[in-house]
Amino acid sequence: MASTASPSIQQGVAPLRAGQGHSFLLRRLHSLSGIVPVGLFLIEHFISNAFATRGPGAYAKQVELLSGFPFVFYLELFGIWLPILYHSLYGFYIWYRGETNVGDYPWMGNWMFTAQRWTGAIAFFYMVWHTWHLRFTGVHILMYPGAAFGKVQGEFQHTWAVVFYAAGILCASWHFAYGLWLFAAKWGITTGDGARRKFAYVCFAIGLLFVLVGALTMRAFLTTPLQPCARSKFRLSAISC
Ligand code: HEM
Repeated sequence: MASTASPSIQQGVAPLRAGQGHSFLLRRLHSLSGIVPVGLFLIEHFISNAFATRGPGAYAKQVELLSGFPFVFYLELFGIWLPILYHSLYGFYIWYRGETNVGDYPWMGNWMFTAQRWTGAIAFFYMVWHTWHLRFTGVHILMYPGAAFGKVQGEFQHTWAVVFYAAGILCASWHFAYGLWLFAAKWGITTGDGARRKFAYVCFAIGLLFVLVGALTMRAFLTTPLQPCARSKFRLSAISC
């Protein structure tokens, strides 16, 4: 009698192989954008914020350095905002289409597959909220770098915001670290089980390093005495900050 049991993997596999028209190109672009520029930006962002561990003065200098780049608006638009938007929206589209790439998730199977999608989604909503608050409302920190430290402290005045920051850091770290592993497998950088297994340890260490740096950075904002702009009444006026 023919078996009616469904195979463990039902969806069609969508490997990164040529000959799939636009979809191949868009998936390659999605994969690449996770590393360059979005992944590179994530590294820069964690390092820049880690200057908070050296105090409000060092943090202000770092913000000033970044805001002093020529063509900063276009650098941000084409180097950060649009690539993140593309990677995110196409990521949701991949999720919606239910495209699996089983060869990329061989060990814990669908668990890692699902985690990659959920961490991306949580990171997305976190980034929208985080940029809206820190970048597009209140005192403009690129114009007033000295207000940056206090503005972040202002965010941490609510427990749920601290929890959301911690979740954002955890999800972005996990997503990027496992994304590095996926990228290396998909682009033929790690071939064979041995190389992939070894690289998994490297990626796990990278993920832990991100979480550690993020945690130390948060601790610096939480334990330093409140700076100007930390309270919302100051945040209303750019001049008083
Ligand atoms: C913190 C910002 C982000 C970074 C640094 C990042 C980085 C990466 C990297 C490096 C990969 C592996 C690329 C590959 O699959 O070859 C990846 C995969 C993926 N990303 Fe992101 N990502 C970010 C945000 C997001 C967001 C907001 C979403 C929205 C849901 C998302 C959805 C996905 C999906 C679905 C995959 C897996 C694609 C697949 O399995 O084929 N990512 N990401």
